[in-house]
Amino acid sequence: MPFRPFLLCAAVMAGSLIAIGGFTAAAFAQDSSATPAAQPAAPAAAPAPAATAPAAEEEKPYKIAADGTVDWAVYNGFRRYNGICYVCHGPDGEGSSFAPALIDSLKTLSFDQFLDTVVNGKETVNTANDKKMPSLGADPNVMCYINDIYAYLKARSDGAVGRGRPAKFEKKSADYAAAENACMGTPG
Ligand code: HEC
Repeated sequence: MPFRPFLLCAAVMAGSLIAIGGFTAAAFAQDSSATPAAQPAAPAAAPAPAATAPAAEEEKPYKIAADGTVDWAVYNGFRRYNGICYVCHGPDGEGSSFAPALIDSLKTLSFDQFLDTVVNGKETVNTANDKKMPSLGADPNVMCYINDIYAYLKARSDGAVGRGRPAKFEKKSADYAAAENACMGTPG
């Protein structure tokens, strides 16, 4: 089962996408050649069984060269994760007393499950626990970079990158920059 970036999840995530509202997070998928006009959910192109595929069967969403150079997604995901999610989930995805270690969560969560939790939030309330994952689906600083955050956490979860800032990383591509600007609504 190939890794399907956010764009291709449009069909299965249709319910959640409504929550995203005005900005076009889905446009900022790894296939940056896609235009917003081309992105509406295409049920025929994204068969439902993919939603239940185990995480282990996904193609790796990151590339790490033999010399340790990480791709831009992993590097940017590191920055975004450690700017937003770490407050609750701990530095480097290692968890805290408040929120689970996402490097463990991603051993079993699929990309779709990961995305669903980030978009819609999650709350477990019982006598021993009152913890809340906020719904971040309306935050472009999260949603425009969610593929990268996932790539970083998956690489951490797989043990492919260590703790801290990756020392060597690929530059941001022009295609990526254009898609980023489109998603964030900033002029290119
Ligand atoms: C305000 C604190 C907070 C922030 C910020 C936060 N989370 Fe969470 N998150 C939580 C809590 C608490 C849980 C556990 C919720 C539960 O189990 O009911 C959680 C659960 C999750 C889960 C599900 C884990 C599992 O094992 O099922 C994912 C995935 C997740 N968060 C991703 C993220 C990402 C990605 C970010 C940053 C974009 C983020 N979270 C930011 C508090 C937070």
